[in-house]
Amino acid sequence: MFDALTRQADDPLLALIGLFRKDERPGKVDLGVGVYRDEAGRTPIFRAVKAAEKRLLETQDSKAYVGPEGDLDFLDRLWQLVGGDIVERSHVAGVQTPGGSGALRLAADLIARMGGRGIWLGLPSWPNHAPIFKAAGLNIATYDFFDIPSQSVIFDNLVSALEGAAPGDAVLLHASCHNPTGGVLSEAQWMEIAALVAERGLLPLVDLAYQGLGRGLDQDVAGLRHLLGVVPEALMAVSCSKSFGLYRERTGAIFARTSSSASADRVRSNLAGLARTSYSMPPDHGAAVVRTILGDPELRRDWAEELETMRLRMTGLRRSLAEGLRTRWQSLGAVADQEGMFSMLPLSEAEVMRLRTEHAIYMPSSGRINIAGLKTTEAAEVAGKFTSL
Ligand code: LMR
Repeated sequence: MFDALTRQADDPLLALIGLFRKDERPGKVDLGVGVYRDEAGRTPIFRAVKAAEKRLLETQDSKAYVGPEGDLDFLDRLWQLVGGDIVERSHVAGVQTPGGSGALRLAADLIARMGGRGIWLGLPSWPNHAPIFKAAGLNIATYDFFDIPSQSVIFDNLVSALEGAAPGDAVLLHASCHNPTGGVLSEAQWMEIAALVAERGLLPLVDLAYQGLGRGLDQDVAGLRHLLGVVPEALMAVSCSKSFGLYRERTGAIFARTSSSASADRVRSNLAGLARTSYSMPPDHGAAVVRTILGDPELRRDWAEELETMRLRMTGLRRSLAEGLRTRWQSLGAVADQEGMFSMLPLSEAEVMRLRTEHAIYMPSSGRINIAGLKTTEAAEVAGKFTSL
């Protein structure tokens, strides 16, 4: 039977992890997978996560199943962080998922189950968006969201896509910290998007994977909250990987904003049913950690403080890098004003390969860089390598 299989290409982004590890050159630079690094190049465990884990180790007295939706307190507290009080809580359905990817897959499965025609995707987007939606059987309609040479969001294209979408179509939006471009939508643009989505009867699926790493914890969900106040229905895929540094714990949630508690209950039961036929129930540990942090004022304060330190480190790195990059590309001064972990450089695949082979700088062939992979001390030097290609 196995002979019927053909060898599949390894995921090119994840393959960088192994390639970088194998490279023995001193001073190698990893700008690949989106993982936060500090000045020493480490991906630290948040102090609050360590403290919560110690507490869990001492107090947890069972490993019995938590239940189909996962940890309900985790869901309540995470929803509060994301949505605040913008929607009546009983109108929100939530299911804990294995990371943000698990949430996106459940969302896509739900859209397929509802008979949705498909989903609109602005390009470039996170490279795993399209494969997840395709695997769930959704049709994907694309439009150009970002112009790399000028480093600008092509808002008119987004508006045209929303205007051209049929009622019931889903539309993928990034809440903030756009992956891979760092492109920012203004408050006025979010208001226009929300009005159009409501008017056209579209279903927004909002990907929220970097809360707190763009402009701040509340600012990063301001557009999303505005949307939630205007549209009757929305899906949100939330990841705790970056905001809590819980990457390998696979911690996330899918939330649905509905228009009644009966509708929320229907959605919740479908999401739980879809999960049951896939992975049954989500892993517990990461969610228990997040629940503990968000439920304890002291741990929460410490977590938010550490997250803010990371955010500020990245904004500083953006400024230094932009300064160097604009000597070759004037438009790349915009890198300083973009947000989150990523920006997209106008590099050819051949140039990306040269950076890897000649300078031990690792990044995907798309030209996306993970800002957090840089050290402040090396930002100018790395920018120099980009500009001297
Ligand atoms: C990334 O975009 O690098 C991260 O979200 C990691 C991943 O799973 O792709």
